Amino acid sequence: MKRVVLLLALCVTALLSVWLITESQKKSGVIEAIEARRSVRAYKDTPVEHEKLELLAKCGVLAPSAMNRQEWEVRIVENKAWIDGATATYLKAVEGTGKADYMLTPTFKNIFRNAAAVIFVGAPDGVFSGENVGCMAQNIMLAATELGLGTCFLGSVQMIFAEPAMAEHLTSLGFSDGYKLRYALAVGYPDEAPEAKPRDMSKIKFVE
Ligand SMILES: Cc1cc2nc3c(=O)[nH]c(=O)nc-3n(C[C@H](O)[C@H](O)[C@H](O)COP(=O)(O)O)c2cc1C
Repeated sequence: MKRVVLLLALCVTALLSVWLITESQKKSGVIEAIEARRSVRAYKDTPVEHEKLELLAKCGVLAPSAMNRQEWEVRIVENKAWIDGATATYLKAVEGTGKADYMLTPTFKNIFRNAAAVIFVGAPDGVFSGENVGCMAQNIMLAATELGLGTCFLGSVQMIFAEPAMAEHLTSLGFSDGYKLRYALAVGYPDEAPEAKPRDMSKIKFVE
């Protein structure tokens, strides 16, 4: 009898150990999203659900910011006519300069890396301004990944909207006085599945 109890105890311990190891190796949704996220530059025409865009913006605002000042403004464009209008204005303004050449792939749809929706983020100049809006961007991109959406961080909008011809489009985003356009995030249902770009893990060092 004693032997049976001992055997059972051993079996239970072994099973428990296997379960504990498996559980500890399981990845959370966030880690899975971090590993799955890619910059996507080809999107389906399928519009992004309004509620999903709302949720993404909320996830952005839940990001940390220095002293919780939340010095950012988020402007969401889901209107295809706005996106196409801005694209037409920009392409006309820079025609012959080569400035837009890098975007003009055979599957070109718009200057926002062909996205169905665009989230613009503005912030005033200031200490930690870049850090704040950077945290916001990553929240949005990871949440989008979890929702099956692709994103692409677009720093290039700073240059695009600096073109004098783009002034009206920039104004229509309605950023408050003192707020500058920092970046945009292309958002949409991916029409490509890019490989992960290489990362240099030797940048990480534990300090003794
Ligand atoms: C600050 C910043 C600016 C970027 N600007 C652009 C851009 O203007 N256009 C673009 O296609 N990608 C842009 N990217 C995306 C990067 O090219 C991309 O993150 C990088 O190549 C790594 O690829 P991955 O995002 O797929 O891991 C930007 C990324 C960051 C963080």
